[in-house]
Amino acid sequence: MCGIVGYIGHRNAWDVIIKGLHRLEYRGYDSAGVALMNGDIKTYKKAGKVSDLENFAHDLDKSGSVGMGHTRWATHGAPSDRNSHPHYSGDGRLSIIHNGIIENYAVLKEALQLKGHEFRSDTDTEVLIHLIEEIQNSDGLELFEAVRVALHEVVGAYAIVVMSNEDPDVLIAARKGSPMVIGVGQDEYFIASDASPIVEYTKNVIYLKDNQIAYIKRDELVIKSTDNRIQTPYIQELELKLEMLEKGGFDHFMLKEIYEQPRSIKDCMRGRIYPNEGKIQLGGLNEYTEKLKNVDRIIIIACGTSWHAGLVAEYLIEEYGRVPVEVEYASEFRYRNPIISEKDIVIAISQSGETADTMAAIEMAKEKGATIFGVCNVVGSSIPRITHAGVYTHAGPEIGVASTKAFTAQVTVLTLIAFFIAEKRGTIKQSELVHLLTELEDVPGLVEKCLEANDHIVQIAEELKDSRNCLFLGRGTGFPVALEGALKLKEISYIHAEGYPAAEMKHGPIALIDEDMPVVVIATKNSSYEKVISNIQEVKARKGTVIAIVTEGDKDVTKMADYTIEIPNANEAFLPLLATVPLQLLSYHIAVMRGCNVDQPRNLAKSVTVE
Ligand code: G6P
Repeated sequence: MCGIVGYIGHRNAWDVIIKGLHRLEYRGYDSAGVALMNGDIKTYKKAGKVSDLENFAHDLDKSGSVGMGHTRWATHGAPSDRNSHPHYSGDGRLSIIHNGIIENYAVLKEALQLKGHEFRSDTDTEVLIHLIEEIQNSDGLELFEAVRVALHEVVGAYAIVVMSNEDPDVLIAARKGSPMVIGVGQDEYFIASDASPIVEYTKNVIYLKDNQIAYIKRDELVIKSTDNRIQTPYIQELELKLEMLEKGGFDHFMLKEIYEQPRSIKDCMRGRIYPNEGKIQLGGLNEYTEKLKNVDRIIIIACGTSWHAGLVAEYLIEEYGRVPVEVEYASEFRYRNPIISEKDIVIAISQSGETADTMAAIEMAKEKGATIFGVCNVVGSSIPRITHAGVYTHAGPEIGVASTKAFTAQVTVLTLIAFFIAEKRGTIKQSELVHLLTELEDVPGLVEKCLEANDHIVQIAEELKDSRNCLFLGRGTGFPVALEGALKLKEISYIHAEGYPAAEMKHGPIALIDEDMPVVVIATKNSSYEKVISNIQEVKARKGTVIAIVTEGDKDVTKMADYTIEIPNANEAFLPLLATVPLQLLSYHIAVMRGCNVDQPRNLAKSVTVE
């Protein structure tokens, strides 16, 4: 969590930093701050969003061509002006911004307090800058060395930028466990949590690695490891384009991203499926073909929406690949003592590639000898670096905090993985694979058709917008869709929503049903159609309002339901890719009608780098 930006060069640092912080606000938005080198360090910070900081600093002098900024998602210390970053040393000489968590901050703080340090905030970050100050004062070290030595005492995760009054033309940056990118310009450098604040200035970037520390001047960059070995920087060219980071005429990023799905699903399949030959090409997994043929069990680990994608994969891998699959919340898995053998394959799913619990679960499974595959969206993020192999989802940057296109891209990749496994293990007939891949190729067009229901969905949203609760029901792959529909609604509209397997309704949720309880049912024509009809009857008998997602041309459910939303007819395997789309739109419109901040829902963040 938290977004950081640094700049040193010839431009106005404030402008670069503020623009960058807006791009990183998806990472946290409860307070923001900037430090500028202008004679000495000038600090501007405020609880609230980046725009609140801009208003606060509107009439203040913001000159300077060296600076750093931060947008926060609070961990230690409530969101307040005082706890906002940057934090400074006791003598005000040094300033720091930090993304991550310093786990041993309490011990360090106590030791520093005994030496007379007084703290102004409740944060772990402030402890680190006092530690650097203490090391400089007691050992007389230069700034770079003092930061390097201090980092040896830190347990936890960090991406930091440090400035000093005594070195006005220097930025020090370091990372361990939290992402950091350095943009390389002409006599200027940019630092950021991801490439989005950098892309409009330069395409040349260096992804700093764990335990690396950078000394940055306008015309000089030196990278060392924290154990003091010189590192050769690897400059990469960004594929990211500026248009990808803008709303492109949509009111919100979330809506833009919902509408991007026909394209993102297509991108995800590009060069990977060959319907005529019944072949799937997943370059990242090729060298694991033997392993996949002999695998006894697949364990899927993920959090949030990615976990829902994992549930879809469980159905598909078991159905087609005939391998037992277990789907685990990474946060639970890492704290159990799970039985894992060298024959197991673990698939870690993560949009950001940075989720702390997922990373820790991967490390644990790796230690126990499992082979780890990653399914990630953000290229160059941490998870792809720690997995043995993987498949990128190529959905492009997802900025709305509630995941939409990343989910359908994950499901697409996992569908390909299920078919790939089936092909390698010989558990699917070639003719069936040809048939499935041919249909899969049509899915982007079918998603396009799902989007055509938008105006009709607006009308339904109007009816539901004042509800206090909502139940989502589905069977088979409709169950993870129901979970995802409920999650979208609660995340962005703050309506309490639950997803349930339709048949489980009678074991509890049915007690909640009355005329005030809308029930969204995934009732498409598939193997459980008849059974879902019975569930709808049970809801109607108790006066619940039924909103049904149905296959186009449906008659039976349409007669019973209060509202229906049609989606095109498709193979059951592809139901999640289609049925999720109207639920995303429904949540979106309800949230807009309730006046909620759709792209930045309260208390949430897109990338959860704390456990
Ligand atoms: C946060 C985000 C969710 C996301 C989850 C897992 O809660 O708000 O949208 O599904 O983290 O993130 P990951 O990046 O690992 O998919």
